[in-house]
Amino acid sequence: MILDDFSDRLDIALQKEMPDHVAIIMDGNGRWAKQRNLPRVAGHHEGMKTVRKITRFANELGIKVLTLYAFSTENWKRPRFEVDFLMKLPGEFLTTYLPELIEENVKVEMIGNFDALPTHTQQAIENARKATEHNDGLILNFAMNYGSRLELVNVVKRIGELAMTNQIELEDIDESLIESCLMTSHLPEPDLLIRTSGEIRLSNFMLWQLAYAEFTFTDVYWPDYNEQCLLEAIEDFQLRNRRFGCVDEEKKGINRKIR
Ligand code: IPE
Ligand code: IPE
Ligand code: MG
Repeated sequence: MILDDFSDRLDIALQKEMPDHVAIIMDGNGRWAKQRNLPRVAGHHEGMKTVRKITRFANELGIKVLTLYAFSTENWKRPRFEVDFLMKLPGEFLTTYLPELIEENVKVEMIGNFDALPTHTQQAIENARKATEHNDGLILNFAMNYGSRLELVNVVKRIGELAMTNQIELEDIDESLIESCLMTSHLPEPDLLIRTSGEIRLSNFMLWQLAYAEFTFTDVYWPDYNEQCLLEAIEDFQLRNRRFGCVDEEKKGINRKIR
């Protein structure tokens, strides 16, 4: 039987296992705008509305963490005007939607190189972080000025420092020590990675953390992404057989990576 009614499909998905952590590479804003003869930044602005829509829906689905890749360490190479616009978006988004986020029990967090952001961007993020720090619903985690390679360089530096100051021995360096030095150390690792706009690459996003995530790609540009698209990705995820290196029989009852 083909069920194309959204609410029926939603009910079915809700009865199955939900990913705890969904990470999205929000891509295609520029092409969305170009298609409409609009400036690229109009696509970024429209994409902000999608962030709101998807945050609300993820919260409804009971997803625990939603990480959104908003600005990469490589995105500084874009034209100055576009970078400035992107740096103003967190301020606009958070001012407009902060009351709603508080109301919906969403907790705003950020990963990335915070110190290198313009002061007004830092303030907007810090303000939202403070205002939502006691919320215990969905964690809305913005990857802002985030680059996985930079993150890993910093992990290596931190471990080097611990070793040089005799706080650890070489034998103490293991996966859990590395994980404890990542910006995501307090979060479960992503179960589902979504990239919009038809690009099939990671663009320096969570290279360590995505080791066992399920990947889904869609041609839809981020400003056109909606609840239906996320539901489709979840349905796809729910059909996957996550083995984590085991064989099926061994893995019965285990549906998360064993740490
Ligand atoms: C994603 O959209 C937003 C950011 C990377 C900041 P793009 O701006 O990359 O859109 P396209 O890929 O040029 O269409
Ligand atoms: C990745 O998108 C970064 C974000 C979505 C923030 P890009 O559009 O920057 O990636 P590339 O350049 O196509 O790899
Ligand atoms: Mg892009």
